[in-house]
Amino acid sequence: AGPCDIYASGGTPCVAAHSTTRALYSAFSGSLYQVKRGSDNTTANIAPLSAGGVANAAAQDSFCASTTCLITIIYDQSGRGNHLTQAPPGGFRGPESNGYDNLASATGAPVTLNGQKAYGVFVSPGTGYRHDAASGTATGDAAQGMYAVFDGTHYNDQCCFDYGNAETSNTDTGSGHMEAIYFGTCTIWGFGSGNGPWIMADLENNLFSGQKTKLNSADPTISDRFLTTVVKGEPNQWAIRGGNAASGSLSTYYSGVRPSGYNPMHKEGAILLGIGGDNSNGAQGTFYEGVMTSGYPSDATEASVQANIVAAKYATTSLTSGTALSVGSSISLQATTPGYTTRYIAHTGSTVNTQIVSSSSSTTLKQQASWTVHTGLGNSACFSFESRDTPGSYIRHNNFVLLLNSNDGSKQFAEDATFCPETGLDGQGSSIRAWGYPTRYFRHYNNVTYIASNGGVQFFDAASLFNDDASFKVNTGFA
Ligand code: AHR
Ligand code: AHR
Repeated sequence: AGPCDIYASGGTPCVAAHSTTRALYSAFSGSLYQVKRGSDNTTANIAPLSAGGVANAAAQDSFCASTTCLITIIYDQSGRGNHLTQAPPGGFRGPESNGYDNLASATGAPVTLNGQKAYGVFVSPGTGYRHDAASGTATGDAAQGMYAVFDGTHYNDQCCFDYGNAETSNTDTGSGHMEAIYFGTCTIWGFGSGNGPWIMADLENNLFSGQKTKLNSADPTISDRFLTTVVKGEPNQWAIRGGNAASGSLSTYYSGVRPSGYNPMHKEGAILLGIGGDNSNGAQGTFYEGVMTSGYPSDATEASVQANIVAAKYATTSLTSGTALSVGSSISLQATTPGYTTRYIAHTGSTVNTQIVSSSSSTTLKQQASWTVHTGLGNSACFSFESRDTPGSYIRHNNFVLLLNSNDGSKQFAEDATFCPETGLDGQGSSIRAWGYPTRYFRHYNNVTYIASNGGVQFFDAASLFNDDASFKVNTGFA
């Protein structure tokens, strides 16, 4: 059985079932998600390998070979057509044209399930999915349940990495107009014990960690790499639950009456992922699977769902490919765009650019074009690049421009300075992906360097020459 078979036997059937990693019904063999590739903007649907099984990641890999791919649709497996697509503007505008949010990279969150590769949905700030005209989801004070499996190590303090029930207008229509799972370290509203991250409920105009506003100390800091999160609600009763998605059972962090001002609820029934009800889109996180039910699931039903998630055996896999890097070595990064191959990634002060470098260049220039490889400051599965001539300073992105800045020790710096190289998009060397923005790669454009997406809205995202500009030969450093 899949999670939605379990909810159905419990009398609380799924009315929305989303996953890019696996079928959530034992009989489901339809499309799990759709990807769009950068080379020709065509799309492909990805289905499970067999009914009830893990997604066919090999089909995606072959469709997306030598180009970039975005997740355009996360299909609803419940049969109600509650598919998630690129979120439209609302109270806040997204970064894409017409104020839409970004789509997620199709390759930002690789994992294995029972040893088979699959991809989750890596939500960077600016990314969001939504379905405003949903069918069968709870409205008003009606009961619903939700669970989602997230990466408990990927979060931030912005509003709001959510999955669940929200406004149909993409705007804040008042307290009680949402009932979604939230995960992260946002402390504007509620928070739990410790430093976070916390599982909370986004009930609109407030993230709740329990019945009170602000601190409810029974809601713990929880950051399992694979994390099961649960929020459910019915008239004057709701709960927050969670646990390790790779082992063990769920714990209850709150179960009781509604907070003041939230009884009755005014749920509107739209579905969102990665954003707040008003399209606040500053948050980040990773989604693997999640559902919404009709009716308030019992703890016993959720225990069976948790056992099913554990049996799916989520595990990590490599985030990198391409030219092997060894920590501690000095490297140079050579442009592969025809006409630019005498250029290497270098810096002039804090500007990171490409410069013409050779064995007869000055020692100063050789040092400016050489980088010491470090274990990724923000993720140990990836890498950071320290300047040879300015120790303590690393290549980082800021507003999508590469800069050489000194490490200030912050979580933001560590993440901005972490990159995951993969096989070069043009077939040469490596393409160096930003860990926190997996649609974006090191790119030289007018001899200045950026993190660029293929065909995005920034001038340096131009699709022309993207693969060449975003591929670099990795050589031994000049100095
Ligand atoms: O409830 C927290 C957030 O407040 C909601 O997600 C958003 O709509 C509003 O800004
Ligand atoms: O480069 C994109 C983002 O811009 C960085 O993550 C952040 O430091 C800045 O806001």
